[in-house]
Amino acid sequence: ARISLRQLLDHAAEHSYGVPGFNINNMEQGIAIMEAARKTASPVILQASRGARAYANDLMLKRMINALAEIYPEIPLCMHQDHGNSLGTCASAIQHGFTSVMMDGSLMADAKTPADYEYNVDVTKKVVEMAHACGVSVEGELGVLGSLETGMGEAEDGHGAEGVLSHDQLLTDPDQAVDFVAKTGVDALAIAMGTSHGAYKFSRKPDGGVLAMGVIEEIHKRLPNTHLVMHGSSSVPQDLQDLINEYGGEIPQTWGVPIEELQRGIRSGVRKINIDTDLRLAITAGIRKTMAENPAGFDPRGYFKPAYALMQKVCEERFEQFGTAGNA
Ligand code: G3H
Ligand code: 13P
Ligand code: NA
Ligand code: ZN
Repeated sequence: ARISLRQLLDHAAEHSYGVPGFNINNMEQGIAIMEAARKTASPVILQASRGARAYANDLMLKRMINALAEIYPEIPLCMHQDHGNSLGTCASAIQHGFTSVMMDGSLMADAKTPADYEYNVDVTKKVVEMAHACGVSVEGELGVLGSLETGMGEAEDGHGAEGVLSHDQLLTDPDQAVDFVAKTGVDALAIAMGTSHGAYKFSRKPDGGVLAMGVIEEIHKRLPNTHLVMHGSSSVPQDLQDLINEYGGEIPQTWGVPIEELQRGIRSGVRKINIDTDLRLAITAGIRKTMAENPAGFDPRGYFKPAYALMQKVCEERFEQFGTAGNA
């Protein structure tokens, strides 16, 4: 059944669990996520970026989500716009059945240039007015998340945002967060707390303490009714990196956010944990392995099936690790 982000995260807050926000671009990812949700009895947040909507086509995506809701009727399902860049993007998402939208006004509409605080407040407030009138929830963003802003973290060449932005710049200011929520009325707030998008988050193995727990706790304490969102939350599992590289991939050694850190975040008030990269790694690992092992094969079902299984495993693990399991 469809559910808004507000409804879903209110339940998560009441019962102290987190919900992964899984990015989706195609049917294979959708089925893997929903199968994992069914197996673990977990509510689901599927999210589509602007790139995903362009890739899959809005109508294809809309009907696919309708189909998933029908195939898995027992699973509470929130369909969310990831990193909306304008009122128009958020409005068209709602027209296509999304039950939640992110207005990322931390960046200008080009999704590259850091925005003024006033611009962010203004555009986010407009989206909230429009979305709430439709019964749709809104996630805002305050702070610099590293790689999206610099373009570095999205690069697939092993260069992360490290060394580009200082630690101070990478943290959301709690006073500004309180003011932002008062002025905009967002349901959820993405804050900068030490993560970045993409596979190349840390160039050395993080030994705990990668997240600014103090900032998370402070913002949660002062905004108990606003659900905190953690972007850039892939763990970049070593076994998937190894599998990809074993079968012809060339992914330089890299580290993501340790699971224990994500769990600490959830204990401190984080409710939505965004994951895209880990499913990208899983589908790639599955396809590479099958293709290498069966070079004569050319039936797409032959390589998508093992890729499904690897994605489903990641999803099941996250549902269990975040305490989402059992709440559907
Ligand atoms: O935050 C970005 C998400 O990982 C989506 O990436 O814009 O390449 O679809 P994308
Ligand atoms: P990852 O790149 O760490 O998976 O983060 C995804 C994300 O934040 C989508 O908005
Ligand atoms: Na930002
Ligand atoms: Zn993000």
